[in-house]
Amino acid sequence: MIAHLRAAGASLVLDARGPYPPVVLHWGGDLGDLTEAELTDLAEAATPPVPPSAVDQPLRLTLLPTPGQGWTGRPGIAGHWAGRPGDGRPGAGRPVDDLRLHTVGRTGPRDLVIECGPAAGGLRVTTDVSLSEQGVLRVRHQVRNTAEVDLHLTAADVVLPVPEQADEVLDFTGLWAHERRPQRGRMRDGTWTRQTRHGRPGHDDPYLMVAGTAGFGFRHGQVWAVHLAWSGDKQLYAERQATGHSLLGAGELLAPGEMILPPDSIYTTPWTVAVCSDAGLDGLSERLHGWIRARRPLRGPRPVVLNTWEAVYFDHDLDRLTRLVDAAAQVGVERFVLDDGWFTGRVDDRRALGDWSVDPQRWPAGLGPLVDRVRSRGMDFGLWVEPEMVSPDSDLARAHPDWLLGPTHAPTWRYQRVLDLDNPDAYRYLRERLGALLDTYPIAYLKWDHNRDLLAAGGAHRQTTALYRLLADLRVTHPDLEIESCASGGGRIDLGIGELVDRFWTSDTNDPLDRQRILRWTSVLMPLEYLGGHLGAGTAHVTGRATDLGFRLATALFGHAGIEWDLTAATDAERADVAGWIAAYRRLRPLLHTGTLVRTDSPDPARQLYGVVDADRSAGVFALVALDAARSALPVPLRLAGLDPQRRYRVSPLRIGPAPTTLQVRPPAWLQRGEAVLPGRVLAEIGLPAPLLHPQQAALFTAEAVG
Ligand code: DGJ
Repeated sequence: MIAHLRAAGASLVLDARGPYPPVVLHWGGDLGDLTEAELTDLAEAATPPVPPSAVDQPLRLTLLPTPGQGWTGRPGIAGHWAGRPGDGRPGAGRPVDDLRLHTVGRTGPRDLVIECGPAAGGLRVTTDVSLSEQGVLRVRHQVRNTAEVDLHLTAADVVLPVPEQADEVLDFTGLWAHERRPQRGRMRDGTWTRQTRHGRPGHDDPYLMVAGTAGFGFRHGQVWAVHLAWSGDKQLYAERQATGHSLLGAGELLAPGEMILPPDSIYTTPWTVAVCSDAGLDGLSERLHGWIRARRPLRGPRPVVLNTWEAVYFDHDLDRLTRLVDAAAQVGVERFVLDDGWFTGRVDDRRALGDWSVDPQRWPAGLGPLVDRVRSRGMDFGLWVEPEMVSPDSDLARAHPDWLLGPTHAPTWRYQRVLDLDNPDAYRYLRERLGALLDTYPIAYLKWDHNRDLLAAGGAHRQTTALYRLLADLRVTHPDLEIESCASGGGRIDLGIGELVDRFWTSDTNDPLDRQRILRWTSVLMPLEYLGGHLGAGTAHVTGRATDLGFRLATALFGHAGIEWDLTAATDAERADVAGWIAAYRRLRPLLHTGTLVRTDSPDPARQLYGVVDADRSAGVFALVALDAARSALPVPLRLAGLDPQRRYRVSPLRIGPAPTTLQVRPPAWLQRGEAVLPGRVLAEIGLPAPLLHPQQAALFTAEAVG
């Protein structure tokens, strides 16, 4: 069979005629409606020549490449059966290599299931390929050991070809409070591999591996990308072979001995989520956001959160928190979240993780009085937990030292160890403790933290699987509960846990300058409304940098908005500005949380211009952000992308909180007038003169279709 899957301007053509696993003939722009005969012609025409000093048949990259197919690049699947060849047991000592196509079938209009295995048997790989209506491709393998000896699997990756014009690679790295720093380079012969061994994606998570045409940007260039929907160890790679084959690959990083499949058992890989676009990174985001939104629709408007962390840290005192509740209610907060510090003995970050009952010293009447206050002021209540962790200084660790994961003498991290969730007793304990909390208090939301790497060789797969089981269990028993994935900020943002949570904590830095950069890149994959962004104090706790309230408000508008600031210490004027910002957020969130994200490619790295345009392109909200001093006296124009080129729009400044400070002797004429009315095409091509913002200032604009 030659299968052609098409959706939303994307095509995937798979030559599944054997004898090897299917070959992707095309993954890119839509090829239109092709007949079977045309597909056969395409497959024939696409057969490459045989060069000198090479295998004597055209070398094709299959979905599961192995040396047995003539492939000398990184194999897509690797492993061996236990034992030594000739030890009497069929298959013993053989490597996984000789893969043949057995069957291919359609399970839906854009869904295929493919079965491959060695001619001699011993293994069956079932590959699911599915193209969503937004053009998002998902692929995974299920590897079944059909031999009579154990199969030691070391890799089962999803490998997709990219064309030769994709010669630039983008992926991400980062640090605590500086997640998703982009890094780019030329694609060269060899493999550019990013592996994570944190037992969580980590702050340096590669996140997406993108290959594209030279110089691709947010709004231009052809791009292809893969992401692994998995929260444990993983590898993403881009490879170019001297043969001329280029590819992107993704798979779980399996430690030696981690995946030993006894006879008749199955390993299911995480889904690889793959997207392509002819319209740069924004094109990738449009597909991904549309797909994520359809898959995980919001339960309702995203409530404005107040999180207590940077307001009180571990200083839990009912009177103080009551004043914070009242201040939050006064400005219009909708959800009050009690962060770390509420459980028995948790007076600092060195102890008590695991002892998940309310601290009788600091909360003698339990959390009830606080929860009642929160709810009586019209907010719902959220609570911080870090279930996978345990402090050596805790009753839990003292009672059950055998429940801890990893070697006893391994270093602690933030003074904590990891609870082995794969241990049924530890799992039951957690399940019971969390259930009891959720049944005792009306908790609308859990902030689920994870503040260290696992550092347990070979333990990440079982731990991650058990975590998913625990989250899924809780969702069944508490279907209205919302959960946020946090890992010392944005250390666990992926589409694996994304199936089970409702929000991500994007980073521990509330410094708006950091947040501008982090949000820009995190939102390539994740829609804004899944990404928590909080208004912090005037001097950011993590960086010590002082920024204006206006800049902080404008920054925290884009995302799932919240506050992480001791509002009781704010002035009346500041609180009034915060109230105005919340009112604007509530008015704008239907647009911000359903619209299309557009990011202009600015020739000046000190200026970012981005916005959200609603689905029917009748309105948009845009932010011009000055990260630093502009590179020229007259700034780069405001080119507003994403609007309908044919319609006319009224563009006007949107004032939320204090006005941005500027350098200009006189503002541009249209800003003096207060608006400009121009066609979308003009706004995108020529744009409007931008105000001369001081560094660390942001100006907001709205565009509304007129007529
Ligand atoms: C790390 C998180 O990212 C913070 O927001 C906060 O919840 C602390 N942990 C609490 O310990």
